[in-house]
Amino acid sequence: MTAINAVTDLSMDGDIAVITLNSPPVNALSQAVREGLEASFKQTLADPKVKGVVLICEGKTFVAGADIREFGKPRKPPSTKDFYKLLDASTKPVVAAIHGTALGGGLELSMMCHYRVAVPSARCGLPEVNIGILPGGGGTQALPRIVGVERALEMMTTGRHVPAKEAHELGIFDALAPEGQLRAFAVDFTRKLIAENKPIKRVRDLNDKIDEARKHPEVFDKFRKANARRLRNMTAPENIIKCVEAAVALPFDDGLKRETELSQELHSGPQAPAMRHSFFAEREAAKIPDVPDTTEVLPVNSVGIIGAGTMGGGIAMNFANVGIPVKIIETKKEALERGLSVIRKNYERTAQRGGLTMDEVEKRMKLISGSLELGDLKDVDLIIEAIFERMDVKKDVFAKLDAVAKPGAILATNTSGLNIDEIASATKRPESVIGLHFFSPANVMKLLEVVRADHTSKAIINTSMKLAKKIGKVAALVGVCPGFVGNRILRQRQVEAQNLVLEGAMPWDVDRVLYNFGFPMGPFAMSDLAGLDIGWVKENSKGETLRDVLCEMDRRGQKTGAGYYDYDENRNAKPSPVTEKIIKDFMAKKGVNGRHISDEEILERCLYPMINEGVQILADRKAIRSSDIDVIWQYGYGFPHYRGGIMYYGDQIGPAKVLAKMKEFQAQMGDRFKPSPLLEKIVAEGKRFADI
Ligand code: COA
Repeated sequence: MTAINAVTDLSMDGDIAVITLNSPPVNALSQAVREGLEASFKQTLADPKVKGVVLICEGKTFVAGADIREFGKPRKPPSTKDFYKLLDASTKPVVAAIHGTALGGGLELSMMCHYRVAVPSARCGLPEVNIGILPGGGGTQALPRIVGVERALEMMTTGRHVPAKEAHELGIFDALAPEGQLRAFAVDFTRKLIAENKPIKRVRDLNDKIDEARKHPEVFDKFRKANARRLRNMTAPENIIKCVEAAVALPFDDGLKRETELSQELHSGPQAPAMRHSFFAEREAAKIPDVPDTTEVLPVNSVGIIGAGTMGGGIAMNFANVGIPVKIIETKKEALERGLSVIRKNYERTAQRGGLTMDEVEKRMKLISGSLELGDLKDVDLIIEAIFERMDVKKDVFAKLDAVAKPGAILATNTSGLNIDEIASATKRPESVIGLHFFSPANVMKLLEVVRADHTSKAIINTSMKLAKKIGKVAALVGVCPGFVGNRILRQRQVEAQNLVLEGAMPWDVDRVLYNFGFPMGPFAMSDLAGLDIGWVKENSKGETLRDVLCEMDRRGQKTGAGYYDYDENRNAKPSPVTEKIIKDFMAKKGVNGRHISDEEILERCLYPMINEGVQILADRKAIRSSDIDVIWQYGYGFPHYRGGIMYYGDQIGPAKVLAKMKEFQAQMGDRFKPSPLLEKIVAEGKRFADI
C-alpha cells in the first residue's frame, strides 16, 4: 500500500489498482481528497502495469459530497469536474465501489467513473437542492443521460436518497455486490470487464435518453407546473431544471459550462448560505455542552405508550418502524382497538402509495401490541405518556408509573407545554423523567423537542437524543417553560394574527402573506385543518372570540366543511362571507374602524414578536443556542429552510431593525411588543442573534 497523501492510499491487487480514500467522517471531497484523487488517477492511468482501477472508501461511507465547510471560501483546484478530462481520456476501466451513501459530489465522481458497483445497503442521490445549490460537478449533465430527464429532475429537485436496489434498476449502479465483500467484488468485476473486452462506458457518450427527451421538449414545463407549489420561492430547483434543459440542448462540454454558470449564481445568492446554516444547525442541535457524547446511553429495546389517541398511535409507529416493540396502554377496550386500527390504516395507506409492502405492514403491526393494564409496562425500557393535557391526570399517571416501571426505565411525557418538574414530582425518581414532545402527525413530523427538567439525568438526555436520531427525528434540547420553545414562539404569532384580523385584515390576507413568505400554510388555514374546537368547551363558550362564535355555529374547520374558510367537497378553501361578517360585527361592537393593513405590516407583526420571544427564550436559557430555535421552527412548524430559520432570518434583517420595529409597534399598540432586554443589549453591543 502506498500513501498518495494523508487521505489517499494506492494498492495493487494483481494488475488492478485500488485507490482508497479515508477522510472521516464522510469522505467529503475536501482539498486533500481532490488532490489525492487527482494524483492517484494520474499515476494509475499512466502506469502500464495497471490494467484497471477501483475507487473505494474506508469508514462508514463512500464520498458523501463536496466538503460543505469549504463553501463560501475561495477554493483551489482541482475541482471535481477536472476529473472528467482524466477519466474520459482513460483507456482502462475505472470502477467506483460504493457503500454507505454516494451523495452529491460523491455520486458525480462515481458517474465519471466508467462503472459503479455497490452493496445492497448503499444509497445514492444528488441532495444539493437541500443546501440551496445544484450538483455542480457535472451531475446535472450526467444523471439525465443515465436515468432520463424526468427521473433526473425528480431526484435532483427532491434530493432524495435512492436505495441500491432502485439505483440498480435505474442503471445508476451496474451491479450489486454481496454485503461485506465490496472490494473483492469490485476487483473481480473490473477484471471481468477487461477479460471480456467490455467498452469504457463514458457518461458523455450516453445519448439514448437525451435523444428521447429532445422529442418531448414540453417535459420541462410540465415538470415546472406539476411541482410549482413544492418548489415555490426556491432558486435552486429552477436552475437545476435549466441545467437539464442545457443537457438536452447542448453538447456535453457546453452543458458542463452552463452548469458552472448556473451553479455560481446559486452560490452567490442568499438561499445557499441560509440552507447551509440549516444543515449545520441541525447537526449542532445534537450537541449538548454539558452532556458529552461519551455519556452513557441506556438500552431502549422496548417501549410503552400510554394513550392510543392520534398522538400515542403516531408515536408508536416511529418505534415499530425501526423494529422496536411497542405496547400501547388504554383504559377502555374500544379506545385501544380504535387506536390500533388507525395505526393499521395509516400503514396500509402508505402501502397503497407504494411506500411499504404489505409484508412490512404486517411486520410492523406485529411489533405493536395493546393492553388495558398499566402493570404490563413493568419490563419496558421507555414509557411515553401521551394522554390529554391536564396536570392532575398526568400526575396521577406518573405516580402509578413510578410504582410499576422497572428501576432505570425512562419515564417520558409528550406534554406540549405543561410543567415537567411538577409531573416529575409525582414520582420518587425525578431523574428518570423527561419530556419527549412529538409534533402531530407524530409519525410524519421530523421535530422532537427533548425537554430537560430540573432533575433529568444526563444519561437519559443522551439516550433520548440518540434515540431521536434512530427513529429519524431531528431533536433539539429545550428547557421547561410554558409551551417550551416551539409553542411559546407560536403563541406570539397566533396572538398577532388574531389582532390583525380585528383591525381590518381578513384571515385569508394574513394566510396569503405567510404562505407567500414560505410557510406551508397560514395560521387560519392551519386552525381549520387542526380543528377550531381543540381545547374549546361548548359549555364555557360565551361568544367572546372569533373562534367561540365560529365553533358555536358549528364551523369547526375542514372536518365540518367550514371554519375561517368555506370548503367545497374536495376541501378546497374559499374566503368566507360568513366569517367576514362575524369579523365586521366584532369590530363594530368594539368601535374599531377597519383600516387597510399592508402585507409588510402583516409580516412584521407576525414575525418580529416571534424573533423577540426567541431572544427572550435564550435569555431564560430555555434553548441552548439560537440555531436550535431555527431547527425547531423549520422541522416543527414549516419555517422555510431557504430562509435559514426564524433567528437566522432575524439576523439577516438585522437585530437593530427588529428592535426599532418592536419599539414602534409598542408605542402604537402597547406592551405586547415590549422588546426583550437581551434584544436591546444585542443591538447596543452590535451583536447578532447567532452570537448569543
Ligand atoms: N461536508 C462536510 N461535512 C459533512 C458533510 C459534507 N458534505 N456531510 C456530513 N458532514 C459532517 C457533518 O457536519 C457531521 O459533522 P459533526 O460530527 O462535526 O457534526 C459529520 O459529517 C457526520 O454527519 P451526520 O449527518 O451527523 O452523519 P449521518 O451518518 O447521520 O449522515 C450523511 C451521513 C452523509 C447521510 C449526511 O451527513 C449528509 O446527508 N451529508 C450531506 C450530503 C450532501 O448534501 N452532499 C452534497 C453536498 S455538495
